[in-house]
Amino acid sequence: MPRHTILSLKKLKRDGEKIACLTAYDASFAAQAERAGVDVLLVGDSLGMVVQGRDSTLPVTLDEMVYHSASVRRGAPDSLLVVDLPFMSCNNPQQTLASAGRLMKEGGAHVVKLEGGAAMVESVALLAHHGIPVCGHLGLLPQSVHKLGGYRVQGRSEAEAECILRDAQALERAGADLLVVECVPAALGERLSQSLSIPVIGIGAGAACDGQVLVLYDLLGITPDKPPAFAKNFLSGRDSVMAAMAAYVEAVKHGVFPAPEHCFD
Ligand code: KIV
Repeated sequence: MPRHTILSLKKLKRDGEKIACLTAYDASFAAQAERAGVDVLLVGDSLGMVVQGRDSTLPVTLDEMVYHSASVRRGAPDSLLVVDLPFMSCNNPQQTLASAGRLMKEGGAHVVKLEGGAAMVESVALLAHHGIPVCGHLGLLPQSVHKLGGYRVQGRSEAEAECILRDAQALERAGADLLVVECVPAALGERLSQSLSIPVIGIGAGAACDGQVLVLYDLLGITPDKPPAFAKNFLSGRDSVMAAMAAYVEAVKHGVFPAPEHCFD
């Protein structure tokens, strides 16, 4: 079993200990992250942008997710692995089940992550029925970037915030075990964390979330484009990748990352 499980993450939430999550795409960085004390590794489809140099996550395939997930699993055998279901791999419950099965059987995933709210409830329920842990993803949905009109903060109006809250509660009721919430006002991140019993992991969602996730390349300050406003370069002033990762873990655990300048109103 990995060092953390869905149950131990829920206990961290109940005990008020923040969860430090980081993306990983290969064995060597995953090994560093495991040794640095990162709680959860996310094999994100952000690899399409930071590893493959594409301009969105849309072209990433299920085969590619399986490949990267298996690499991360070999490098960090004791870490809980959450792996993204890529664009068009979860269009209906049966396809979602088949795709999740590949991520677990071939990629070594422990938890699968999917983007979307009400539309994904049936799929989440089917995965839960088959004993597959699920992480939801709400707020800014990178796979819907063209529908959203860009990478923009979500949930700023009360109506949008209510919709995200309702989606989150529906995902939890359907059997989701974790929720990632991306680019929403800090006040909404706090409401989500308070109203759900599953851990809420924020990225650009304020310091009150139950945990944080960062894209590894943002943490290292090597993102090719301008880094997002919520990101912080933890390598700056430190002499190793592992020291940067350990500083991130400590900052999350002590509630000093994200600072106000990394949050949205
Ligand atoms: O793909 C990814 O890295 C993600 C994070 C941004 C949460 O989904």
